[in-house]
Amino acid sequence: MKLFFALLLCVSVAPNVFAHGSGSDRLARNLAATCANCHGTEGHSVGKVAALAGKPAQDTIGKLTEFKEGKRPATIMHQIAKGFTDEQLRLIADYFAAQK
Ligand code: HEC
Repeated sequence: MKLFFALLLCVSVAPNVFAHGSGSDRLARNLAATCANCHGTEGHSVGKVAALAGKPAQDTIGKLTEFKEGKRPATIMHQIAKGFTDEQLRLIADYFAAQK
């Protein structure tokens, strides 16, 4: 039981301890997690939807911006892209580009 609380303390304190410098990494991971349902965990797609992992950030941000502006044909990505600020889309694109 003591161990459990010790672990709990680590988990709850660690994010604050490491917040400096890694805050945007965590934000990026959280934002990118919203894409996992369709694009696979960490962007490793297993179905028909395109994989995002390892794609150059510039490509991904370009596509996302086109979706957001309605310039790229889509069934669902228009709505999804509109739900994020440009800054958030950049974080997401960088995050997926960094995945193997
Ligand atoms: C509900 C399912 C779903 C979710 C959630 C989703 N996507 Fe998509 N995504 C699609 C589909 C389907 C397409 C193909 C275009 C279309 O029909 O909208 C696509 C296409 C894309 C493409 C273009 C791929 C290519 O190479 O042509 C990118 C980039 C993309 N999505 C990024 C994202 C990102 C980033 C997120 C999370 C913020 C996300 N998607 C969330 C379903 C989804």
